[in-house]
Amino acid sequence: MNAVVLGATRGAGRALARALAARGDRLFLLGRDLEELRRSAADCDVRSPGGAAALGVAGCDLLAPESAAPALDAAWAACGRVDAVVVTAALFATQERLESDRELARRLLEADFSGTVLFCEEARQRLLAQGGGTLCVFSSVAGERGRKPVVLYGAAKAGLTRYLEGLDHRFHARGLRVVTVKPGFLRTSMTDGLPAPPFTADPDEIAPLVLRAIDRGTPVVYVTPVWRWVMLVVRSLPRFVLRRVGF
Ligand SMILES: NC(=O)c1ccc[n+]([C@@H]2O[C@H](COP(=O)([O-])OP(=O)(O)OC[C@H]3O[C@@H](n4cnc5c(N)ncnc54)[C@H](OP(=O)(O)O)[C@@H]3O)[C@@H](O)[C@H]2O)c1
Repeated sequence: MNAVVLGATRGAGRALARALAARGDRLFLLGRDLEELRRSAADCDVRSPGGAAALGVAGCDLLAPESAAPALDAAWAACGRVDAVVVTAALFATQERLESDRELARRLLEADFSGTVLFCEEARQRLLAQGGGTLCVFSSVAGERGRKPVVLYGAAKAGLTRYLEGLDHRFHARGLRVVTVKPGFLRTSMTDGLPAPPFTADPDEIAPLVLRAIDRGTPVVYVTPVWRWVMLVVRSLPRFVLRRVGF
């Protein structure tokens, strides 16, 4: 499979790129730090059974939506056909920081919602033009209910989740497979310094689950799976309960 990954410089994206490379898939990596992307590409190459997983890298910034089209064009030119476009890139900050820094809040809302959606629009257009393919995007369980610790980040992820659901309904018959990944708490640079709740997972632990979802075209995948049941409970909590608890 040929896969394009946006966000492979760290965390879940890097783990996923390594897992794809280890099973012999070919990769084109996108991100805003070209040097770090090249390091990730070299790391993927050594993990590949054939010794060469990376087909190239290109700059792409979710805060510069105009960077999506040329980056994806470069990926398509290098890959020929792209079977999957994977987006793990996103920005996180605590609710307290976002409440006291309006500019950071603006950037987070832009990167995690409109920037990601506009990138996905460019990707799905190219996938449809070649007859289909998979668009796998990391949203979050934070988007399932409005909650005190993630009011702004959760709102961006809720919007993203709804967009991906609509995309699935609109283009499934034309061969687009949309995979929405909903991680719980992952031990990555995004959560550095935050207290780890129960069911915390490492990115390498969840990578095989995401690969399986991509291979099967599973529309929604909770990683780790226990979060499906946790969120079932959270979704059913009455408003007055959520108002009282800090969760
Ligand atoms: N970690 C968690 O507990 C958790 C929980 C739920 C959902 N998620 C979601 O899972 C996904 C992966 O998270 P993670 O923990 O792996 O995050 P991470 O370790 O912080 O990595 C974030 C990635 O996003 C890239 N990125 C950030 N801003 C960008 C921008 N403007 N343009 C392009 N790339 C940008 C970073 O690139 P640079 O190296 O250039 O900064 C990095 O590669 C995210 O969508 C996140 O919201 C994470």
